[in-house]
Amino acid sequence: MTDDRVAVLDGIAAQVRLCTLCDLYKGRTHAVPGAGDYHAEILFIGEGPGFYEDQKGLPFVGRSGDYLEKMLALIGYTRDQVFITNVVKCRPPENRDPLPDEITACKPYLDSQEATMNPLLIATLGRFSMNRYFPGGKITQLHGKPRIDAEAKRAYMPLFHPAAVLRNPTLEPQMAAAFKSIPALLEKVREMRGGNAPASSSSGGSTPPPPSKDKDDKPIQLSLF
Ligand code: URA
Ligand code: SF4
Repeated sequence: MTDDRVAVLDGIAAQVRLCTLCDLYKGRTHAVPGAGDYHAEILFIGEGPGFYEDQKGLPFVGRSGDYLEKMLALIGYTRDQVFITNVVKCRPPENRDPLPDEITACKPYLDSQEATMNPLLIATLGRFSMNRYFPGGKITQLHGKPRIDAEAKRAYMPLFHPAAVLRNPTLEPQMAAAFKSIPALLEKVREMRGGNAPASSSSGGSTPPPPSKDKDDKPIQLSLF
């Protein structure tokens, strides 16, 4: 596997940091393109940066981030072993919901990140990212119920937003159960892709995963605008 993906994903991040495609750029301290392992099997997608994320330029560094790390630890992962991003890369004022126009303006970046990483599992955090893959779906009905796309050889797992669980701790058992179902789901998708070795989930080291022998690796295309 020629590894163009690092260059492509770094390029997307650089574009995000300079982006003025929607008005959210006006209020940002730092854009938040996403962070983690570019070769991760799991891509987490949240809503948008909050106060601390905007200050640091990194996703999920506030209380929601601590909670996400706690959930990842249940299945033996650290945040460095997954990739985490958002549907909008700049902080909405006063942490309001992102507007449909802002999500649309920012979509090419997420589309390109997704296509370049080609993750086995996309886990959505909250309803804005869920709506990308489950249009019209209700989070209360869909949380923890994955869909497997046999053609793309990928799973989609809708999850509550960590902030929602922190606000409403009665959701915690459901959140933990959904995370605990992730390893088996990943294994299923790995088998669909021809039994590739796990990327970097269990080694614990920072070494890159072995080269993929996946014949289905699609050529990386960057078709932003
Ligand atoms: N909430 C989100 O949706 N994304 C972040 O990056 C942080 C908090
Ligand atoms: Fe650009 Fe997205 Fe930031 Fe809007 S939110 S300015 S589209 S990077």
